[in-house]
Amino acid sequence: MAESLLFGEGTREDQYKVLIPQIKALIDGEPDLVANLANSAAALRQTFDFFWVGFYLVKNDELVLGPFQGDIACTRIQRGKGVCGSSWDQKQTLLVPDVDLFEGHIACSALSQSEIVVPIVKASTVVAVLDIDSAVKNDFSQTDQQYLEELALILSELF
Ligand code: SME
Repeated sequence: MAESLLFGEGTREDQYKVLIPQIKALIDGEPDLVANLANSAAALRQTFDFFWVGFYLVKNDELVLGPFQGDIACTRIQRGKGVCGSSWDQKQTLLVPDVDLFEGHIACSALSQSEIVVPIVKASTVVAVLDIDSAVKNDFSQTDQQYLEELALILSELF
């Protein structure tokens, strides 16, 4: 795929408006979950240059690391633990402007400064979370939440 197709220009909102249809097109007709999550993580990281983008999948009542782009990360997270386990437990998006101020934050890397975790819900049950870390504080806003929740809805159909 041509690089220019993935690197949107303009505001972050403009970039999401280009990116989400691209991810839809990428996964359209491909039934494999791992392949689709892997390309989704890559597309998000390539577009925004986030520090870490990946998925944790609910398996046997814990979160297990799935496809991701970035540094080595924690493999398993218990329900209610860290930002990911809390998002799963609360079944809602968690926006963390400063990870140092989130009690129980799991620091897979000291470079991560802010974070957003979006649950992927299928038939009222959280089946995975999308986790994005930024190397700068306060990097995520309602705009990210809105578009990433839209993406989570699209991805939920893969489970
Ligand atoms: N910070 C996360 C752990 C996952 S890493 O950021 C990839 C958390 O507190 O759940």
